[in-house]
Amino acid sequence: MDQERGSFSKMGFILAAAGSAVGLGNLWRFPFTVGENGGGVFVLMYLLSIIIIAIPVLLAEASLGRHTNKNPIGAFAMVKPGSSWPLVGLLGIICAFMILSFYAVIAGWTVAYFVKAVTGQFTNIGPEQAVASFGSFTSNSWLQLVLLAVFIVITVVVVSGGVAGGIEKCSKILMPVLLGILILLLIRSLTLKGAYEGVMFYLKPDFSKFSFKVVIAAIGQAFFSMSLGMGTMITYGSYVSKKDSLPSSCGWIAFFDTFIALMAGFIIFPAIFSQGMNPDQGSGVMFNVLPVLFSKMPGGSIFGSFFFLLLSIAALTSTISILEVPVSYLIDERKWKRKKASVLIGSIAFIIGICSALSNGGSSFFSNLPVFNIGFLDLWNMIWGNVALSVGALLEAIFVAYVWKTHKAVKEIKVGAQKFTLVKPWSFLIKYIVPVFIILILIGYFI
Ligand code: PHE
Repeated sequence: MDQERGSFSKMGFILAAAGSAVGLGNLWRFPFTVGENGGGVFVLMYLLSIIIIAIPVLLAEASLGRHTNKNPIGAFAMVKPGSSWPLVGLLGIICAFMILSFYAVIAGWTVAYFVKAVTGQFTNIGPEQAVASFGSFTSNSWLQLVLLAVFIVITVVVVSGGVAGGIEKCSKILMPVLLGILILLLIRSLTLKGAYEGVMFYLKPDFSKFSFKVVIAAIGQAFFSMSLGMGTMITYGSYVSKKDSLPSSCGWIAFFDTFIALMAGFIIFPAIFSQGMNPDQGSGVMFNVLPVLFSKMPGGSIFGSFFFLLLSIAALTSTISILEVPVSYLIDERKWKRKKASVLIGSIAFIIGICSALSNGGSSFFSNLPVFNIGFLDLWNMIWGNVALSVGALLEAIFVAYVWKTHKAVKEIKVGAQKFTLVKPWSFLIKYIVPVFIILILIGYFI
């Protein structure tokens, strides 16, 4: 394999792909999306989406990547030369720019909250103070731009370091430590007064809240959280050796990712309800709720510091995987140097990101866009995080099932796997269930 591309060592794929999947999607996006979409009913739809849609797509992406050993555009071109399928890869690359641009803004918030925790600002604060302090923080335009820039620069530096050196190393220690802190938070949250009401909101589906909006949000969240629909897992799959087992790696990745998201819900909702807050308060929810929770814990500043530090690193292993999509394309197809590609793409993402950075109070225009009546970041999150990823995943599934063909994909999946007993269910899901479901949901949503 050539030098500029690089490859993963054994276990490297699980670590890096889990690092890509676990991030702000689980701890920031999942809870606020649950809150906005009626609680339990959304959680149920989300779990169904993971099992019948996201896991089959994950296996499809990873096998396509390993088979072709290419970036998303190159992968489609190699399987079907001379067709317009590589445009699906191009859509993925555009998604990467757009998602990175707003994701890095939130990642910047986690860095700032780490600093807040370290400097002891999580002591004796109540819900009103937490909300007010978050509001003044996000309306500080310069600070927002600096934080965005800092996060993008760190991402660019790691990606410039290459696949095994930069990406793998970052993913290694993180998971167990993050899990440990989450367990402590979980215990604290569940033992708060009024926690039960939060658990009920989270787990008990209220079917009167069911709608197309809920289903598309659930599917979009499943794709976003598992880094699917834009070719991240094609790219990471392309660095996997033929000795590794794709089905078991993909199973573990899905398990970790879902487990951590579910834990985040068990932390956030009891805390919201016990503080008498509203679960439907949008993208700031985590930053409004957690400081209060930490201030109610013995050693809260220390746990708070660790938590936000780990979350920043978890966000970093995700931004790395997002940036890697366009970078691998420029290296493979345009013969660019890794460093030049990372710097250029990081810079463009920063420029687009300015609109999101100023959209929570920094600029009144971006905070409440005409026509849409929502902030730029929320709009971007919806368009690129839900709709575009769903369209991307739909086209990938159709491609793998009908152009590359499932039996060829199965042949690739079986390489390195002891056994793959789910040939029939997987083929059925990827051929029929995944495309039909996504098409129906998209049509329903737009009508
Ligand atoms: N899955 C990542 C998270 O949950 C975000 C992401 C989306 C990464 C799309 C890559 C591609 O935070």
